[in-house]
Amino acid sequence: SKTAIVEIFNDKFPIGETVTVNGWIRTRRDSKAGISFLAIYDGSCFDPIQAVVPSDLENYASDVLNLTAGCSVSVTGELVESPGKGQSFEIQATNVQVHGFVQDPDTYPMSAKRHSIEYLREHAHLRPRTNIIGAVTRVRNCLSHAIHNFFYEKGFNWISTPIITGSDCEGAGEMFRVSTLDLENLPKTEAGKVDYKQDFFGKETFMTVSGQLNAETYACALSNVYTFGPTFRAENSHTTRHLAEFWMVEPEIAFADLADAAQLAEDMLKYVFNAVLTERADDMAFFAQRVDKEAITRLEKMVSSEFVRMDYTEAIEILQNCGKKFEYDVEWGVDLQSEHERYLAEVHVGAPIILQNYPKDIKAFYMKLNEDGKTVAAMDVLAPGIGEIIGGSQREESLEALDKRIAEMDLNMDDYSWYRDLRKYGTVPHAGFGLGFERLVSYVTGVQNIRDVIAFPRSPGSADF
Ligand code: 4AD
Ligand code: MG
Repeated sequence: SKTAIVEIFNDKFPIGETVTVNGWIRTRRDSKAGISFLAIYDGSCFDPIQAVVPSDLENYASDVLNLTAGCSVSVTGELVESPGKGQSFEIQATNVQVHGFVQDPDTYPMSAKRHSIEYLREHAHLRPRTNIIGAVTRVRNCLSHAIHNFFYEKGFNWISTPIITGSDCEGAGEMFRVSTLDLENLPKTEAGKVDYKQDFFGKETFMTVSGQLNAETYACALSNVYTFGPTFRAENSHTTRHLAEFWMVEPEIAFADLADAAQLAEDMLKYVFNAVLTERADDMAFFAQRVDKEAITRLEKMVSSEFVRMDYTEAIEILQNCGKKFEYDVEWGVDLQSEHERYLAEVHVGAPIILQNYPKDIKAFYMKLNEDGKTVAAMDVLAPGIGEIIGGSQREESLEALDKRIAEMDLNMDDYSWYRDLRKYGTVPHAGFGLGFERLVSYVTGVQNIRDVIAFPRSPGSADF
């Protein structure tokens, strides 16, 4: 029977049982006594398993002695206790089948030595064979399951919101256009503008920047919902925190205010940190050893402490009086830069912080105006080392106030008619947030560049692989 290596390490098979593992060679070492040691990796867990291959195998000279890093094999043999330190099991091989050799070991980009993370990015199709990308992938998988489990246990319905949309959720104009029009021969209206009526959907359409507006419609019917899918931003940001294509988790809760959304964000983060600490301890140990020595302690601290809540106005005072020289000056009304967010989270509090009640002029049109008339019921969760990982708000539930904001921000009323309907027919206070999934993975693993925590990163000027 074929088995994943993780099942062997999880004691699924007793000593003495015959197993077959499929995987890729990490290393081969030959002893003078005429046996070879193969380290085989299949991605099911952090560690490779060792197979001990005797030289009397029929294909020992022809195949086994030609194995190099990256070759694919099936190895069958008896499971025995490993005399070597660190390993509990090894396979006493009775058969080694080679599926594919590495044609030219000198050109194989993933040799057994340690490569820089930048180098790996240039070989995105082969980098999943490395320890670090394997560990990132398993942690990412664990986090995504934990998110679904968290909401499922709480009775939320997962809604699949559309990728193609006609409305700009954030109103920031950072959308990729979706069109089947012939770019070299665009149809024009009489006024000389592009005639999108002739386009596939009969109107201008884009890749969504957020599923929130659609999620709101379902929250205003099913009460508690979330969407979790890819989102797209054509912002020309060349930073370690921005992708042009990233995944977002967006819960939306009805009969709820900003404080409810903030509590939900805190509970969700703690739940998924716990999951990763218990379910991916092997990978987290690797991150703590190789990438960021705080990787585990940071999460442990988070699950046991209460997140600090602070108003934007107070944060501005702190930043102005802290004596630190920032690249960008701060005064009430400015959008916080990552250096400010990080100062608050890393230096001032030393833990994640939930910043609330931002000036309305730097936030999206749908956020609920506070009684002061100047701020909106918005929140950002700022994490040490990274800055904003969550952005959310209470939504404006009054049609009158919403329309005023749409007009003030010069958005097209017609695009939002369906969204405005929610305020006409049984409107209710509701709130939600968006968690940037890659920022979460980056935070959890300590892997600094967001391009390294998604399989095939998309950023300005780069959409290879
Ligand atoms: O703050 P943002 O723009 O909020 C929204 O889109 C709301 N509609 C969410 C909601 O309330 N349902 O984005 C939310 C999060 C950010 O906090 C950040 O973590 C992440 O999405 N994010 C990005 N992640 C990677 N690359 C980018 N270019 C990102 N832009 C935002
Ligand atoms: Mg934001």
